[in-house]
Amino acid sequence: SVSVPSVQELAFQGPEKVPPRYIRDEDGDDIIGTYPSDPSLRVPFIDMAKLVNADTHQLELQKLLLACKDWGVFQLVNHGISNTSLKNMGNQVQRFFELPLQEKKRWAQRPGSLEGYGQAFVTSEDQKLDWNDMIFLKCLPIENRKLDLWPQNPPEFRETLERYSEDIREVTISIMKFITMSLGLQDTQISESFREGLYDIRMNCYPPCPEPERVLGIVPHADNSGITLLLDCADFPGLQFLKDKKWVNVEPIEGAIVVNIGQIIEVMSNGIYKAPEHRAVVNKVKERFSIVTFCYPSPHMNIGPADMLTGEGNVAVYKNLTHAEYFSKFFNRDLNESFLDGLR
Ligand code: SIN
Ligand code: FE2
Repeated sequence: SVSVPSVQELAFQGPEKVPPRYIRDEDGDDIIGTYPSDPSLRVPFIDMAKLVNADTHQLELQKLLLACKDWGVFQLVNHGISNTSLKNMGNQVQRFFELPLQEKKRWAQRPGSLEGYGQAFVTSEDQKLDWNDMIFLKCLPIENRKLDLWPQNPPEFRETLERYSEDIREVTISIMKFITMSLGLQDTQISESFREGLYDIRMNCYPPCPEPERVLGIVPHADNSGITLLLDCADFPGLQFLKDKKWVNVEPIEGAIVVNIGQIIEVMSNGIYKAPEHRAVVNKVKERFSIVTFCYPSPHMNIGPADMLTGEGNVAVYKNLTHAEYFSKFFNRDLNESFLDGLR
């Protein structure tokens, strides 16, 4: 891997132009043509309180089914994590990124690993760069934590993140229960496997950018997770999902969590639910923070189409893999091909 400069430091110097390594509109990415996103489309909204309440359950479950089928993403409200806890987590992340570079570097990524403070992986000197600094930490199970990479400044960072990851795990188990229900799956094996699941958290900082329409905060991708839960700490959009070939903004709603389907649930649903393409764009004057939790089922759980969704004329679209096989295929994937096509 190749080391990359801090985007915050770069932005702080107040350049009029963006360095060529970040410019995307020269290599056919065509981001100008689709930016800003289509205002007539709106990401669906799911109310967990309505899923839980017997009187409203059926209707909301139907909404969830359509959200997962047509979009692969929804904004979840009444999920059980208080506004104060969410705000608190957001503040800790913002305060961390506001520390001087030298201080943040105490928790810098070690060579060859994504974990810690730094930037997303680059593998060559000519690869285009994302307008993004981040800190990536494995949070659950506790044995997976590399505490030497967990910031001790701000002083409450660690305990806030510990608490947040546990809260997110609860929401994940609940929403997975309803997601599997919406697929018509009768047992809770899949949703319960998230109790012993893996929870990796990526905290993002997107500094202001002098030429926002020429760069990307995060290049388009689908997540390799089971599901992903995102806390948007901004009051302006930055996250976009591809819907009917158009990029659609997620308008941040206070207290809401953005939930998107990852490729593991795409496989387990036998392709009924799709892991959507998404990306982050940046702002000319405002800094944006987001906190993204990648939620994976227990490593003991095989990754393949659910039994109930195959047979009786429904062929399994994907192979059945162990957790280890799935990750080994992911890390060795051909970047020019669709990862899931390789699992067929
Ligand atoms: C992501 O795709 O992981 C994050 C995008 C965002 O920060 O909104
Ligand atoms: Fe993502």
